[in-house]
Amino acid sequence: MDNLKVLMVAAEISPFAKAGGLADVTGSLPPALSALGVDVRLVMPKYGSISEKKYALKRIHKDIDVPTGGKIIKIDIYQGALPRTDIPVYFIDCPEYFGDKEIYLGEKDTQRFIFFSLSILYILPIIEFKPDVVHAHDFHSALVANFINLSNFTYSKDAKTLYTIHNLNYQGQASPDVLKEGNLSASSLESLATDAKDGDINFMVQGIFNCQALNTVSPTYAKEIMTKEQGSGLHRVIKKNKHKLLGILNGLDISKFNPETDPNICCNFSVESLDKKSENKLALQRELGLPEDKDKPLLAIVSRLAWQKGFELINSELLEKLDFQLIVLGTGEEKYENHFKDLAEKFPEKVSAQIKFDLGLAQRIYAGSDFFLMPSRYEPCGLGQMIAMRYGSLPIVRYTGGLADTVNKKVGFSFKTFSQKAFYLAVNRALKTYYNKKKYQSMQARAMKVDFSWSRSAKKYLNIYRKLTKHKN
Ligand code: GLC
Repeated sequence: MDNLKVLMVAAEISPFAKAGGLADVTGSLPPALSALGVDVRLVMPKYGSISEKKYALKRIHKDIDVPTGGKIIKIDIYQGALPRTDIPVYFIDCPEYFGDKEIYLGEKDTQRFIFFSLSILYILPIIEFKPDVVHAHDFHSALVANFINLSNFTYSKDAKTLYTIHNLNYQGQASPDVLKEGNLSASSLESLATDAKDGDINFMVQGIFNCQALNTVSPTYAKEIMTKEQGSGLHRVIKKNKHKLLGILNGLDISKFNPETDPNICCNFSVESLDKKSENKLALQRELGLPEDKDKPLLAIVSRLAWQKGFELINSELLEKLDFQLIVLGTGEEKYENHFKDLAEKFPEKVSAQIKFDLGLAQRIYAGSDFFLMPSRYEPCGLGQMIAMRYGSLPIVRYTGGLADTVNKKVGFSFKTFSQKAFYLAVNRALKTYYNKKKYQSMQARAMKVDFSWSRSAKKYLNIYRKLTKHKN
């Protein structure tokens, strides 16, 4: 029997285009699947920011007709590979929709991504890849499940779909008019007719209904999204589809996030050489212009700056009451960018706000910090806390979603209620522990030894693929 064939479809794949954790997952799960014998390939849009030269992309097909919204749009297909692997990545080249440098453009996105999803059905016979499973991620590729369920695409009609929800708060809602872009209408499928009744189409809902298997990125988040409080309006829809829902914790690319070999940090270290971690701390303080002091607790944030992340809990009051340094790296909503810029202005000796995207600096922050903050309102999985633990930076997190599944008392600190007081108490506990060197170091050692590799979770994905297809390999 041939190996299982899986096509992974996503708007973001690291390192080609990344806005958040979605890209890390789609960039690091496939090699783990490939190691298990899966013939996995990926497809994404070719955004204006993706360099053909840097990634050695080759145009493999030209001028493919994709009939859409009463006209025909021509696309090209480029091919590259995930770095250090021979896993093929196909890029849909259509400057009209994806020529911009940005991944997301706001209002136009439902239209752009319905076209992306449609184009996949047209490229499969051309690249001669007949997937057993199409694995779609988030709202951007949800509609692939609809197209497969329609009878007009014979080449891929036997494919099953697994739909992974990374973040339920981005659902892709649009007026039913958007369906024209995919040559669909509300009457094309029962799920569309039902969805259109309230006046709009919700891509996430379509994915949930049309897939054969559904998962989110941690067991706790899988339970939370069935509650009114955390279901972002979709808890009923998800409950209805509970029979096909699983929670599978994300893994990490542990070869990339490895303090023993990381080329971005000044001094490599391991559990056995934790003293070298303080050299990274001093170098980081120097790099960002904070007072160099290896005994001052250094707290860090590396994150998208979004409402989800709960950063209003980190404020002047906290900085006045407790003695620590804070480094923030990230971009996002203006409100949060300004919040941290203001704190840095007010507390120049304590706070450094780096409002940018800088992968090398991110690694130096993981390596140099003592604690890592994630006071998230909700967190489907969260990758930062896992990376931080690998680098011996102890997470201080809100007990929710994947944070609840990865951070326990032996490796970090957590609080339940989203309140200033609960957060203050957690930070205070962490700082007290910091000054108890023996306890702090034994927590660090434990955190660094946790296995966050993909191997366990990749097997869980393989089980789903096999169940869907009754495939032995
Ligand atoms: C989204 C979620 C984050 C998760 C990531 C990858 O960015 O907000 O919690 O880790 O997707 O699944």
